[in-house]
Amino acid sequence: MPPLEASPLERPRSYARWALSHGISRAVLSSASWRGDPLAGLMWSRDTPDYGPLRARGPIHMQPFMAGTVSYAAANEILRSSDFGVGDGQAELSVPLRWLLAKVSASDALGPFDAPSMLAVDPPLHTRYRKQVSKAFTARRVSSMAETVTAVAGELLDQIDPHEGRVDIIQEYATKLPLAVIAELLGVPDSERADILRWGDQAAAILDPGLSWRDYSQVEAAMRSLHHWFEDHVRRLRSDPGDDLLSALVIAGDLDDIELHAVGLLLLGAGFETTVNLIGNAVAALDGHPDQRDLLLADPSLVDGVVEETLRWDPPVIVTVREAYAAASVAGVDVAKGTAVAVVLGGANRDPAVFGDPDTYDITRPNADQHLSFSAGTHFCLGASLARLEARIGLRLLFERHPSLRVAGQGVRRSTRVLRGYASLPVAL
Ligand code: HEM
Repeated sequence: MPPLEASPLERPRSYARWALSHGISRAVLSSASWRGDPLAGLMWSRDTPDYGPLRARGPIHMQPFMAGTVSYAAANEILRSSDFGVGDGQAELSVPLRWLLAKVSASDALGPFDAPSMLAVDPPLHTRYRKQVSKAFTARRVSSMAETVTAVAGELLDQIDPHEGRVDIIQEYATKLPLAVIAELLGVPDSERADILRWGDQAAAILDPGLSWRDYSQVEAAMRSLHHWFEDHVRRLRSDPGDDLLSALVIAGDLDDIELHAVGLLLLGAGFETTVNLIGNAVAALDGHPDQRDLLLADPSLVDGVVEETLRWDPPVIVTVREAYAAASVAGVDVAKGTAVAVVLGGANRDPAVFGDPDTYDITRPNADQHLSFSAGTHFCLGASLARLEARIGLRLLFERHPSLRVAGQGVRRSTRVLRGYASLPVAL
């Protein structure tokens, strides 16, 4: 099914949404980046992030458009502080423009950063949503997924012909494994998975600031398609529930339809693209560090270290944003009420005050799991243990079956900036 474009009547509203939510920040970020500002450069560039220039500006770098930090202590403090919240993502807009944006919002193309998504709300509403979802997303449900993950990974590996020459490990493995897991969690029928995969891929750029109008309209079309699909899917689960997590939430009856769509969409978005990136980034990192790869091959129990160190060194999500709800002092720097702060998770993970020799990829690093790649505080990733389970099992089975796997050709990075991973990575087995 093709993505659902905005109707001719909706198009001017869609353009206004783009202008307010991306057009302005596009102009601001591109010009600040061009002038050499390291924060704008980081938010704007698709290159491998270099956190050094931002670190050189101190624990918090203030700019008129936003502040930013790559300091572990400051990032950790902001994420856990009740003086900061998720805001509405538009702290740089004036009050009238924020009002206008609310007026033109699209109720059938809401994204992961639009309420009632859990990621877009603060306590006490957040506490209510998180409690409902956690009741269904239990540790037991996650550990019972181990069998499914092992079985799916085994089937996918059986389908890959080792004599085929080059195999794109992203398309053939890193994507298919988390897709199968999330589809199981959300009760997506087999015949609809290809659509979900395509729309999810197209929608992933929604997290990037300053999209062009062309990219934004494609992203919005994908969001709209996902929204309509979820509407039908929730209706279907109401009359014929399965034993998946979304059905459990439907049966519990604590969330209304819009809230259920938001949860479904968030689980899909947060849980799928990120895990694909983690598996792909780990394969690439091991290939780039043959000594670490040899350590893993000699001792497969080091796969836990591979997962944590990859999360730290090349995280699937490099930045999130918080807004100061009150004047605050963070790491000795005054932050005014209303300031938006880019909390650069990838930069905090390379803070030499916490991680010795931070640019080195070392799967035996004792404190690698202190990374902030799953965030911290209120919005700490709800799927962290599932993501770890998938990556550990996925990577262990991959290297068990193909110990001489090597990258064989140029990998292509995804074009997204906030989500970092590979679109393709050819390997020889
Ligand atoms: C390697 C894989 C993953 C990474 C790196 C990751 C990263 C993150 C990050 C950074 C946040 C918080 C953003 C913020 O503080 O603004 C988050 C939140 C979240 N993640 Fe994950 N995630 C991953 C996998 C998953 C999976 C597998 C699921 C579920 C199936 C999931 C579900 C969620 C949900 C529901 C939230 C929102 C939590 C809240 O707002 O309370 N994530 N994730």
